[in-house]
Amino acid sequence: MRMSAPLKKALTSQIGMEAYASNYYLAMASWCELAGYEGSASMLYRQADEERAHMNKIVRYLNMIGAGATIPAVKQPPAAFKDLESVFKAALKSEQAVTASFNSMAAVAQKDGDHAAFAFLQWFVTEQVEEEALMETILQKFDLLGHDKIGIYEADRFVGRLPPPGGPAAAAAPG
Ligand SMILES: [Fe+2]
Ligand SMILES: [Fe+2]
Repeated sequence: MRMSAPLKKALTSQIGMEAYASNYYLAMASWCELAGYEGSASMLYRQADEERAHMNKIVRYLNMIGAGATIPAVKQPPAAFKDLESVFKAALKSEQAVTASFNSMAAVAQKDGDHAAFAFLQWFVTEQVEEEALMETILQKFDLLGHDKIGIYEADRFVGRLPPPGGPAAAAAPG
């Protein structure tokens, strides 16, 4: 099965984007841990692992179809955040950029008539709907609970009680 050069290039840069997202979540998790936001720290460490699994999934797909994956360089993520809410604002923005990237790759796969790649990309398209909804839900809690110390403490507790990622990530991931 042959993949077009533009799609291979886009998937290769997506490997880097997922690696960056993983490190970005790791930086957020670390900042939260140091600031005493234990709930958010545990959720964000989990997100970091999830993004790494996404990266591996793309590497293995490229190898499986004989396109040969290459691993791009990753730039350093921000280390400091203004407050807990801005961590999740940054997370939403990052997920939106990833969504846009998968949407444009799905369009390329469609144009190429690459049905296998299109099916592969659908998993990520669905995953991104969940990722964005999750960050929106968390951000809404900051508004509902208020921005005083107790509100932020409760928002962190809410994030800490969120179930581990499910949906297509848990149901359809090959490993
Ligand atoms: Fe991802
Ligand atoms: Fe994500």
